[in-house]
Amino acid sequence: MNNGLVFSGVQPTGNLHLGNYLGAIKNWVDLQNKKKCIFCIVDLHAITVSENRKKLKENSKEVAAAYLASGIDPKKSIIFVQSNVTGHSELAWILSCHTPIGWLNRMTQFKDKAGKNKEKAPLGLYSYPVLMAADILLYKSSYVPVGEDQKQHLELCRDIAQSFNRYYENEFFPIPEPIITGSATRVMSLKDGTKKMSKSDPSDYSRINLTDSTDELRKKILKAKTDSLPFPDSDQNIENRPEVNNLINIFCAMTDSRKELVLKDYSGKDFKKFKEDLCEIVNQKISVISAEMKKLLEEKGYLDSILNDGIKKANEIALDNIKEIKKIISFYRI
Ligand code: TRP
Repeated sequence: MNNGLVFSGVQPTGNLHLGNYLGAIKNWVDLQNKKKCIFCIVDLHAITVSENRKKLKENSKEVAAAYLASGIDPKKSIIFVQSNVTGHSELAWILSCHTPIGWLNRMTQFKDKAGKNKEKAPLGLYSYPVLMAADILLYKSSYVPVGEDQKQHLELCRDIAQSFNRYYENEFFPIPEPIITGSATRVMSLKDGTKKMSKSDPSDYSRINLTDSTDELRKKILKAKTDSLPFPDSDQNIENRPEVNNLINIFCAMTDSRKELVLKDYSGKDFKKFKEDLCEIVNQKISVISAEMKKLLEEKGYLDSILNDGIKKANEIALDNIKEIKKIISFYRI
């Protein structure tokens, strides 16, 4: 039953930043050498929020370029754009019939995103976690690399899979496991270490975009909030210092190093030196990725051919599974 398949996705919302890279894409590059992976560009999710409904085509291509530039290999992994495989919306409907409203009412992300005026929030924003469950279960995926903020949605996906299996008295859907990786799975704002780095933060100084120039990047890191205490020498000295913790986590994730070692290296030194080194490290990686993204986006037809191939492969699996699911439900078929 467990096919070992990995599924994950990023929304094409424009302005990819360091949080998307360290929290998601970077971790996938290693995974694809160990397991069969499907990496989706989840455009059906993006339209749940009105600002994201513009430039969908360009933004989807930008995410595809970021996947490839970061080292996702289309020969090993399937890369495709969600709206091209109709099974996602089809299965979302079916699963919505197995999802009690009470489960959705617990989702904290909906509460945050809908804000005070819940009555005006679109139904799609509310049922978004069901679509996410459909994404994962459509391929009968076993593993889902996600950031901390998506853990609750994955829990719901597991509940929905179990609910379907129980109702139809079979074990069609594997119960997917989360993979939460790396020390910087949750990259925070450079201005407020208690808030996630986000493309919707009004201050561009709160985030590092994958397309930032060396200059911009430098300014942002050097101006990143810290405090007047010395550089910490142990985990205990980072408690209640969210901005410092965030910068150290970014350093660890970028260099694949353990926190203790970084603390040992910099303890006693001033923040300026640490920030200078961090600029260097971030710049080295990001400048290579952004140059490669630019090249891929300018190369006519190349991304389209990769995505076309991915759509075909994803659709093949999806159609087979949808067929099975319809059989289980015993819908009328000619
Ligand atoms: N909801 C995820 C996010 O906002 C994106 C996503 C959609 C996803 N479908 C998924 C992630 C399936 C993992 C698996 O980050």
